[in-house]
Order: sequence, then structure tokens, then C-alpha cells
Amino acid sequence: MLRRVLQQASIPRHISHTFFAPRLSYSSPFLLRKCSSSSSEIPQSSFVEHLDDKNQTTPQPPATISVDRSGLYNPPEHSHEPSSDSELVKHLKGIIKFRGGPISVAEYMEEVLTNPKAGFYINRDVFGAEGDFITSPEVSQMFGEMVAVWAMCLWEQMGQPKRVNLVELGPGRGTLMVDLLRGASKFKNFTESLHVHLVECSPALQKLQHQNLNCVDEEPTPDKTDKKTVSTLAGTPVSWHAALEQVPSGVPTIIIAHEFYDALPVHQFQRASRGWCEKMVDVAEDSKFRFVLSPQPTPATLYLAKRCKWATTEEVAKLEQIEVCPKAMELTKTIAERISSDGGGALIIDYGLNGVVSDSLQAIRKHKFVNILDDPGSADLSAYVDFASIRHSAEEASGHVSVHGPITQSQFLGSLGINFRVEALLQNCTDEQAESLRTGYWRLVGDGEAPVWEGPEEQAPIGMGTRYLAMAIVNKKQGVPVPFQ
Ligand SMILES: C[S@@+](CC[C@H](N)C(=O)[O-])C[C@H]1O[C@@H](n2cnc3c(N)ncnc32)[C@H](O)[C@@H]1O
Repeated sequence: MLRRVLQQASIPRHISHTFFAPRLSYSSPFLLRKCSSSSSEIPQSSFVEHLDDKNQTTPQPPATISVDRSGLYNPPEHSHEPSSDSELVKHLKGIIKFRGGPISVAEYMEEVLTNPKAGFYINRDVFGAEGDFITSPEVSQMFGEMVAVWAMCLWEQMGQPKRVNLVELGPGRGTLMVDLLRGASKFKNFTESLHVHLVECSPALQKLQHQNLNCVDEEPTPDKTDKKTVSTLAGTPVSWHAALEQVPSGVPTIIIAHEFYDALPVHQFQRASRGWCEKMVDVAEDSKFRFVLSPQPTPATLYLAKRCKWATTEEVAKLEQIEVCPKAMELTKTIAERISSDGGGALIIDYGLNGVVSDSLQAIRKHKFVNILDDPGSADLSAYVDFASIRHSAEEASGHVSVHGPITQSQFLGSLGINFRVEALLQNCTDEQAESLRTGYWRLVGDGEAPVWEGPEEQAPIGMGTRYLAMAIVNKKQGVPVPFQ
């Protein structure tokens, strides 16, 4: 199957002028979301005020939560002078003021990214050279094509069902789905079974996805009152939803989540002399945002206790900070339940760790790391994905699913045949396109700086092959998915 798919994959994008041209501009200097190899490159915004941790000499037991009642919150007076604050900053300050206390880092992150009026993703295209960062599907068409191979192999293992919901969570510009559908378009039995469901919170990105998938809106007929949208790339119906729960159930389902989990809000906890305290976002006397520690246990403490139970005592004991993502746990539960009842599987690709994540939250604006609290809404916020927590959440949610991986992106793409694909594409391209293909290939599967790079040193492509990980959650009926055997 693999070789057949790779040979038959539809016309490579480099033949199409419109699709290939932008790729050349992404080749080097633009930031993938996890290009930083050391935390020292990231502006240190994680400074927490009012920490009183000097007396601590021995580590506390991992999941101990104690309460400090001395630091009762005292909101600063707000000036009535006109401010130059953005709408989002005013909104965040308003929540803090009317709530009468600081908000969690998770609430801050969620507002910054997805506030319906002014969230980072809501009103614009944030990807590519003109945007803030790029992602693997934007780097090379080969990424989406390899995901197409994965989905088709799973569909075969599912017994080639006649109807399948193909769901993508957070499709960005829709590039992965475009490459997937183009790559699979010769496999009519597969594409004819599909109904594509895109889970996207941003109206601006929904519009872009509609455009990039070459969608046409069919007029409602007297017998069908619902508007039907079809992607002309492979003749598949396409629907948009705000959340996975809204995707109709009862049909076998294939779910793809590429760089979606890293955008889910994380709670941050810090070890203090009084035990684990949640890091919160507050407004300082000078009206700027600052971090403080919660004086008392917060509701997210329940998730901290749950996450610590899944870890070894040694793992937690060496950490001074922990990030916990309840939304990732809940999403995984929804995925596992859906796959359990309807059949199918999910593919999660993201940067992260197969274990507890300590302190990874970062902000990127215009391809540069910036302070997390600086001008919220103008920079992307993202955090490492805790793959171990995904595994535990899925296994806890259902006994009918099995979890595979994580394996590195390099192993995943390599096993699916990216080497054959790049060779096939190189057979028929210009020198410039060849360089772009090689650079893209390195960024997807390489590790560190590309070994043979003739361009300016500061533009050397950085391989993401080992920092990005792939995990699959499948219905046990399907057996072990390719290439996790
Ligand atoms: C980092 S981008 C990844 C885009 C795409 N998967 C790619 O790899 O190019 C995150 C995507 O998820 C969407 N998103 C973020 N949070 C979301 C949420 N809570 N619900 C729905 N979509 C969300 C964003 O609008 C964006 O499309």
C-alpha cells in the first residue's frame, strides 16, 4: 500500500505555480514554533513577584498542596486617565479587576489566543513569512502527503468503510488538508467515503480554509434546506465546527491534530515553601501585567494532583515547576470516547515530551521569541505537549482504544516513505525548487542544523525531526496502526 500510494500521489505541488512559489520563501529564516533549543533564548517573563521561598531547604513531597493565608489579594487602584491599552488588554484587566483577584495562566492564555473579538488567532492569518511562525504543512507538501498515507492505511485497517468522518482539529490555513486530499485524490474509494470536518475557532481562518480547499457552496434545494459545501480538490463535503463535540457521531472517524494541543491553555504551578502554588497573572501598581503565586489552592489543583498520580515520585521530585493542561485531558477523553463508539483513530503530532512538562510556555511574534505578558494578543502563545498525560487520559477514558507512540516525527515520516517521495519530486523540478524541497525535507526530518548548507549561516535550516512527536489513539478492533508496529 505505502509504495502504491507514494507512486500514485497526485501531481506534485511544484508543478503548480501557485502552490509551489510560496514554499521557496519559507525555506529558512522563519521560525517553527519549537526552534529554540535553550530556554535562555526566550525572554524571561516567568519572573514571579512576592515569592517567599528562601527557607526551603528540602524538597516537598510531590503532590502536597498547602495554603498560605497571609497573602490576601489587594487589587491596585486603577487610573481614570485615558489608556493606550488594546481592547484585549482592557478586557484582561477588566476580568482581573471585577473578579477581585489574579487569573490563572491558563485563563490568560485562552483569552489571548481565542478571545472571540481580539484573540491572536481570531482575525488574521498568523502563518508564514508575513505572519508570526510557520508549521510543518507550510514547510513542505510532503508533510500532508505523508499524513494522507497514514489516513489511507488506517482506513484500510478499518475495513474500507463507505462513510468516514475525517476531522482536523485546528487546521490553520488548511494546507495539511489540501495536501492530504490532493495526495489521496487518485484513491477514489477512499476520498468518496470522506466527509471532512474542520474544527476551527477563527472565522478568518475558516474563510482561508474554504478558499484554499477550493470549496464551493451548493445552493440549498427544496428537499435539502442545509447549505452543502464541497471541496473540489477531491469532491468531498466539508463542514466547520467550533468543537469536536459538534462533529456528528455514528460514523467511523479519523481525527488529525497537528499543532493543536500546544495551543490549549496550560496551568502553571511552582514549588514554594508552602507546597505547590499556581502561578497567576495579575496587574501591578504600574498597570503592567505580572506573575504572582496564588495564596490559596485553586480549582486546577485537582488536575495537578491527577497529573502527579500518573508520574513517578522521582519524576515529580526533581521539578520546581509543572505545567498541567486540563483541556488536553478533556479533549483526549472526547477523542477516545468517539473512537471507541464509532471506530477509527486519531493522529496527534506536536512538539512535547513523553512525560511531565516543567516550564515551557512561550510567546512568538514575527518569528521572534518575546515576553509572554507583553502586548497580549499580538504574539502566539504555545506550550509543550505532555504526551504521557494524553496516553493516560485516553486509557482512562476507554478500554476499547489503544495508544501508540510517541515516536519522533522523523521516524513517523521516514516509515511512511518520505524518502521515496522527496526523490520522486526531485526528478522533475528546477534547481530552485530542488533546493526548497531539500530544505523542507531537512526541516521535517532532520535533527539540528542542516549538514550541507551553502546559504548564510544564520539562515541554516533547523531540523525538527526529533523535537516533534507523533502519537496514535485507535479503536482496538483495528489493530496496531502504521507505522507504530
Ligand atoms: C498552531 S495553529 C496550527 C495550524 C495547523 N494545524 C498547522 O499545522 O499549520 C493552531 C490552530 O488551532 C486553532 N485553534 C486554537 N485553539 C482552538 C480552539 N480552542 N478551538 C478551535 N480551534 C482552535 C487555531 O485557530 C489554528 O488554526
